[in-house]
Amino acid sequence: MSLIQWVNFPPLGDERGSLVALEGSKTVPFEIKRVYYIFGTQQGVARGFHAHRNLKQVAVCVTGKCRMILDDGETRQETWLDSPTKGLIIGDRVWREMHDFSPDCVLLVLASEHYDENDYIRNYDEFVKRDR
Ligand code: TYD
Repeated sequence: MSLIQWVNFPPLGDERGSLVALEGSKTVPFEIKRVYYIFGTQQGVARGFHAHRNLKQVAVCVTGKCRMILDDGETRQETWLDSPTKGLIIGDRVWREMHDFSPDCVLLVLASEHYDENDYIRNYDEFVKRDR
């Protein structure tokens, strides 16, 4: 099964421009408990480098682009996030890395749980051996 799974956000466009509406348990396949966004990422900086035990997320670049790597400990796959109408689904126990942020990138993330530092798996070797 591919690790790269998208959810499409139909744009509600008219002559004024475009609008995307995201609703928990509808457009986004879980109840949304948290929203955060990453912006102003400096050139050459990569982020992420962790997995979660119990957290589903959908990531969408509302402006600009970045390259996302997903890794379940067996397979490593990558894709560009470069569309405000496509969200990438990131499931539990998937290692993620974000690279090559464009200077204008705003990466919006919708999350199924509140922030919990204890839910993070930050050591890749432990993730592959024990946590996946
Ligand atoms: P971090 O997990 O390092 O971000 P990334 O994995 O995208 O590189 O988070 C950076 C800081 O922000 C860290 O101190 C934890 C804090 N943080 C929150 O307080 N709430 C959140 O929802 C997130 C994602 C991070």
